[in-house]
Amino acid sequence: MRMKILLAFVLSVGLSVASAQELEIFSWWAGDEGPALDALIELYEAQYPNVVVENATVTGGAGVVARAVLKTRMLGGQPPDSFQVHAGEELIGTWVVANRMEDLTWLFEEEGWLDVFPPDLIDLISTDGGIWSVPVNIHRSNVMWFVPENLEAWGVDVPTTWDEFLEVCSSLQGQGVTPLVVGESWTVQHLWESVALAELGPDAYGQLWTGDLSFTDPSVVATWERFGEVMDCTNDDASGLSWQQATDRVVDGDAAFNVMGDWAAGYMVTTLGLEPGVDMGWAASPGTDGVFMVLSDSFGLPVGAPNRDEAIDWLRVVGSLEGQDAFNPLKGSIAPRLDSDLGRYNAYLQSAAEDFANDRQVGSLVHGTAAKESFMSEFATVMEIFLDTGSAQAAASAAEAVAIQTALGR
Ligand code: GAL
Repeated sequence: MRMKILLAFVLSVGLSVASAQELEIFSWWAGDEGPALDALIELYEAQYPNVVVENATVTGGAGVVARAVLKTRMLGGQPPDSFQVHAGEELIGTWVVANRMEDLTWLFEEEGWLDVFPPDLIDLISTDGGIWSVPVNIHRSNVMWFVPENLEAWGVDVPTTWDEFLEVCSSLQGQGVTPLVVGESWTVQHLWESVALAELGPDAYGQLWTGDLSFTDPSVVATWERFGEVMDCTNDDASGLSWQQATDRVVDGDAAFNVMGDWAAGYMVTTLGLEPGVDMGWAASPGTDGVFMVLSDSFGLPVGAPNRDEAIDWLRVVGSLEGQDAFNPLKGSIAPRLDSDLGRYNAYLQSAAEDFANDRQVGSLVHGTAAKESFMSEFATVMEIFLDTGSAQAAASAAEAVAIQTALGR
């Protein structure tokens, strides 16, 4: 009898262990941002039906809230099994230098990924010690969005330089239209990086992050002056708006333009059902044609992931052709994989893929590519100083102080 009970106990424990496989994925792709991740999770669940996936999201564009929550968990020894992290400095300068990630070189070799991901992107996720995450997408930061029909009604062409933009600004204001809509703080910083790229050009813009160009250099001070002129053409209720709500203003005809990453295309097409090129149009943000400001979301394997095997299988799906071509058409991004099937992508994404292949590439500040996170998070304060004082000089010296404090470029 005892034996039987024991056997039943062992069996039930065994069974419950077998059915309790779990995987926690952590990201900021909640709500409107969710459909692409949902598609990827569905694919994983179809391949690994025994695993219960916890899709842990913390709402807030650009991960401003999620990254803080993640930091608390990671430092508190409670990492998720896998988490969203930007390729580049956000991954390397935060988690890899702190020895919090597992080297995935073996997985890249096993899956043949060294031949299918662009070498520059592999560089962004690598150090001498290894390869540290699996990229799921390529987003473009420097895009200007508009509704072609509305521009026609307002008698306005798409500006190709900020000078041209400033010329149409007053005409739009005269018609009661917001020339350029911005939202909460990070979206304003997002606008700044596009303005700085236009003003400095790709070489000097890149030198800001390597420490070869000082923030107090007159050419950089001038970017703040130009930025101030552009900000005079924006709405004054910015701080209350999410990036989606800012995009809505363009779609609804309250604003003419929006400079936002191409997740805005994902939102307009996947969530709002607009047709690219008809209901909504796009162009490189003024003065940046021929330059692709790049960022890439990736997933990594933290040291101490509670469900390591399941996380590794998740990463296999993230890096697979099928996974990337399920995720990206919904997300508004292109697949990093060079063998991606462009036939599955809409007109905007096909044009993005062409630009990515032909344009000069530079890294985004706000989305973790170019500068370490410590600098990036302090940049919010620099922006506040500029918005409070309106002084380009004050912003420039504050940025330089933060660059020194955070040892930017070193
Ligand atoms: C970026 C991220 C995108 C998108 C965006 C808005 O940082 O890379 O995938 O989520 O934020 O939240």
